[in-house]
Amino acid sequence: FMLKEIMEEPEALRRAILPRIKDGKVVFEGLQLDIRQYHSIKIIACGSSSHVGMVGKYNLEKLTRIPTEVVLASEFRYCDPIIDDKTLVIVISQSGETLDTMAALREAKALGARSLSIVNVVGSSIARESDDVLYTWAGPEIAVATTKAFVTQLAVIDLLAVWLAAQLGRLSADEETRLTAAIAALPAQVEQILSSRERIQYYASQYFNHDSVFFIGRNLDYALGMEGSLKLKEISYIHSEAYASGELKHGTISLIEPGTLVVALGTYSPLFDKAMSNVIEVKARGASVLALTTEQNREEMEKRVDGILTIPDTELMLLPLLGVVPLQLFAYYVALQRGCDIDKPRNL
Ligand code: F6R
Repeated sequence: FMLKEIMEEPEALRRAILPRIKDGKVVFEGLQLDIRQYHSIKIIACGSSSHVGMVGKYNLEKLTRIPTEVVLASEFRYCDPIIDDKTLVIVISQSGETLDTMAALREAKALGARSLSIVNVVGSSIARESDDVLYTWAGPEIAVATTKAFVTQLAVIDLLAVWLAAQLGRLSADEETRLTAAIAALPAQVEQILSSRERIQYYASQYFNHDSVFFIGRNLDYALGMEGSLKLKEISYIHSEAYASGELKHGTISLIEPGTLVVALGTYSPLFDKAMSNVIEVKARGASVLALTTEQNREEMEKRVDGILTIPDTELMLLPLLGVVPLQLFAYYVALQRGCDIDKPRNL
């Protein structure tokens, strides 16, 4: 099911995106929200959905300049959150039934926040209890590890960031047209990545027996690494960690030794040089490096690493949506090589 669901991503994305773009503008039918009434945004979610929240935080802050925080639902409930009626709470959940997320939504509402949920399962508890809901329309997910719902959650939060920025007058009509065109192009770009999955399978066959993997990246690539790492560990049982690359020197680098696999994420081109210097740093300690970058930076990266995966070029804010697809496939093929029960990982 996991592979089937990854292969369904282009269709799921079309359902999530195409009805919401009209004449170069984002349209959310029935959504009455006036963002000028809110001074902060809190994103509440668990697991992979919280990684969508991390990407959302970077993109919402960049486009709207509204302070945005991502809080794990299981922490939110017990941290005496600072929330009032000027807070917009965005709740993200595939199932719409996750208990911690549900409880956090109730708490946020009790404190006066306005709630907007991004949910896959129509009519689920979270969808019903939120002031507004944006459905992802990914279709049912059978595999435990989320894939197609994850990419559609990203698409919806990216559309939301554009919609809110336009409402605030922070995007010119040309910029909005450019961004919506790039969002509309995503399903075909995901198809392109899926068609080159043999290369990903090849790298999985090279690296499946590593015991320890680090995903490193900065900014959007850090959020991407969080998801790549979770996907790998939950279905292959390989110990895997995600780090903001700049944190390596504050302790983690002592774990890098000959044979450690580092998945270096260098899709975010403004920080590409920084990504390269981290690659050089871990290579010098004997790590094997599998890099993920965009087509425009392929040549530069290829000289320094042991393996390379690429994604098509797109707008910066959309990079994690394309970048996660090869990481999902990598996790899948590694788990397959290791003979794991991919759709039903132990203990989950
Ligand atoms: C990981 C995964 C989980 C979920 C998490 C939240 O592949 O599927 O981490 O993302 O349990 O679930 P939802 O989104 O249904 O609230």
